[in-house]
Amino acid sequence: MELTGFIHQSISFMSSWALRFVAELEIANHIKAYGGPMPLHELARSIPIPPGKDLTLESLMGLLVHQRVFAKCEGGYQLTPISEIMLSEGANMGAFVRFATEPSPEQLLFTSKWFKDTGKSTVFELAHNGKQAWEVMKEKPELGNLFNDAMSSLSKEFVRILVARYPEIFEGINNLVDVGGGTGSTVKIIADSFPDLRCTVFDLPHVIDNSLNNDSISVVGGDMFDKIPLADAILLKTVLHDWSDEDCVRILKKCKEAIDSTINKGKVIVVEMVLDAETDDSKETETKLIYNLSLLFFFGSKERTKKEWHDLILGAGYSDYKIYPARMPLYSVIELYP
Ligand SMILES: C[S@@+](CC[C@H](N)C(=O)[O-])C[C@H]1O[C@@H](n2cnc3c(N)ncnc32)[C@H](O)[C@@H]1O
Repeated sequence: MELTGFIHQSISFMSSWALRFVAELEIANHIKAYGGPMPLHELARSIPIPPGKDLTLESLMGLLVHQRVFAKCEGGYQLTPISEIMLSEGANMGAFVRFATEPSPEQLLFTSKWFKDTGKSTVFELAHNGKQAWEVMKEKPELGNLFNDAMSSLSKEFVRILVARYPEIFEGINNLVDVGGGTGSTVKIIADSFPDLRCTVFDLPHVIDNSLNNDSISVVGGDMFDKIPLADAILLKTVLHDWSDEDCVRILKKCKEAIDSTINKGKVIVVEMVLDAETDDSKETETKLIYNLSLLFFFGSKERTKKEWHDLILGAGYSDYKIYPARMPLYSVIELYP
């Protein structure tokens, strides 16, 4: 058992890559377009893959069926809820797996060296000649774009769940600013779900997508450490986990300054992992622990426990907060009251 477990863990990067091949070969899209169970040879021809490589495709599909990414019946392959989120008409999670399998692991070759003997604050910094992640993503637009697409695909799936399970969070507010809102996929779903809510996407000037400006959405470029646009409520979705405790306190203080003090429902809505939130799902716990380690390597930041959130929020001068009962996969909602 131990040996199987060890070997499984050593080679399971291949599972991540199998998902990446699904994204690159657009396998989920081909099965969807076929309109029913899709035989192997039909799938191979529609990708297209030359006949000599069908056996390899069959082995790839065999692993993915075992992992429930696809299902197989007599007629051929079918989508499952996992492959459905990879459809380009849906969340298009292919961008996330491309980011997770390519630029992220490259830097891990530097990890042992970083642990032992460098003065660099993160593995990323050591792998990129002393430069931090945000700096490199600005300099290399292809990396920055892949990161933004990965975040956007992840966001689409979670925000759909967020607005469906917690509508009360957005009710009664008139004006919401999504700080670190990226290319605006979160705000688009919120604005569609709550048509009376005026939404603003706020992010670094080179990240924002000005074409999004319309009657219900404004786009503002700037630096959250400097000044955040005024709002009834501020959304900080998976932003704080990129920063140290000291930087988070600075960001949270800027958010507090930006909340319109004349209204009595002002709040900051934080969507983040809570490492010790109640769950019986061991895959969920392991996913959070892997994410936490990746953040330490990438940004020198971390996911946080309930106690760490408590200290951070009160340390930034907020009077109270509420962690909503977990009704979403991986992420929790924390409301902060000025
Ligand atoms: C992990 S992403 C989260 C994006 C989005 N909230 C989501 O959930 O998909 C963090 C975002 O913070 C933005 N960001 C980083 N530094 C910033 C700064 N100083 N001011 C404003 N936004 C910043 C990044 O450009 C990026 O879009």
